Amino acid sequence: MEFVNGKTRTCGLIGNPVEHTLSPLIHNTLSGFTGLNQIYVPLHVETGFLEDAVKGAYALNFLGMNVTVPYKSDVISYVKEIDPVAKNIGAVNTLVRMDGGYKGYNTDMLGLFRGMQSEGINIEGEEIILIGAGGAARAVAFLCAMKGAKQVYLMNRTLEKAELVANEINEALHLSCVVPMKLEDYGLLPDKKYLAIQGTSIGLHPNVEAAPIMDPQFYEKVHTGYDLIYNPEKTKFMQLVEDAGGKSYNGLKMLLYQGVIAFELFTGKSISEEQANKVHDKMMKAMKQHE
Ligand code: ATR
Repeated sequence: MEFVNGKTRTCGLIGNPVEHTLSPLIHNTLSGFTGLNQIYVPLHVETGFLEDAVKGAYALNFLGMNVTVPYKSDVISYVKEIDPVAKNIGAVNTLVRMDGGYKGYNTDMLGLFRGMQSEGINIEGEEIILIGAGGAARAVAFLCAMKGAKQVYLMNRTLEKAELVANEINEALHLSCVVPMKLEDYGLLPDKKYLAIQGTSIGLHPNVEAAPIMDPQFYEKVHTGYDLIYNPEKTKFMQLVEDAGGKSYNGLKMLLYQGVIAFELFTGKSISEEQANKVHDKMMKAMKQHE
């Protein structure tokens, strides 16, 4: 790597595993676009070493870090400050260097929002169906409520879990827009057209023929389907949305923009949509090569 020299700044991704990550591709491409002398590396951290890893990164003058599975909640104990959005969600995926430690952010959700904006998908005033009540869906429900959704029908196989998450969000934000429902009760949804967000791991490679709801009638109510999954490129959920005449999107833009926003936080530079789209093309190519 002939461009690495004494002035190179380092960023990295803490996780376990990190071997399949696309984040180095995102960040190193952006360093190239902006002409910054900066490198981004994967950092496999074994169970029990998270605190050491964060302290060590600070001591080694790392400019910023991303944090992925399984450490997004645990890392909150080791940040100096936390952004309010990340605090509400209860998960941090980005550490930005400050005096004496790192400030924690959640760019997954900010990335989902910017990715949606780039596709012209609206949240404010919308009636939204959100499928799932795990960590990812919970964060999306927070985002939708924070960004002014009119109603979020939080649909989950286990109703109790949907109720817990809905109550927690409504209380935290002093709202009542999140409505828990049992997944199989989709027939009870008022007859309208919705934005539907798929927030479970159902349909993820290699289970490409699975979707949380298989009934084509459900998809008649969906004008836009957004799947958080990006592998495969078109999930069964997305196919069902399209078969019923709706538009569908996968989660690759969310992944892209969580990286773009982290890069902007690390460096103070702004990334244009045109630059982001170029990174998106490279991500698509990289994924095809891995197939
Ligand atoms: P993550 O934290 O990665 O978002 P998770 O916590 O494992 O994922 O949550 C998985 C979500 O997928 C849950 O909403 C789960 O529903 P339950 O709360 O009822 O378990 C949902 N899920 C997983 N497998 C499912 C299946 N076969 N049918 C319906 N929902 C399923």
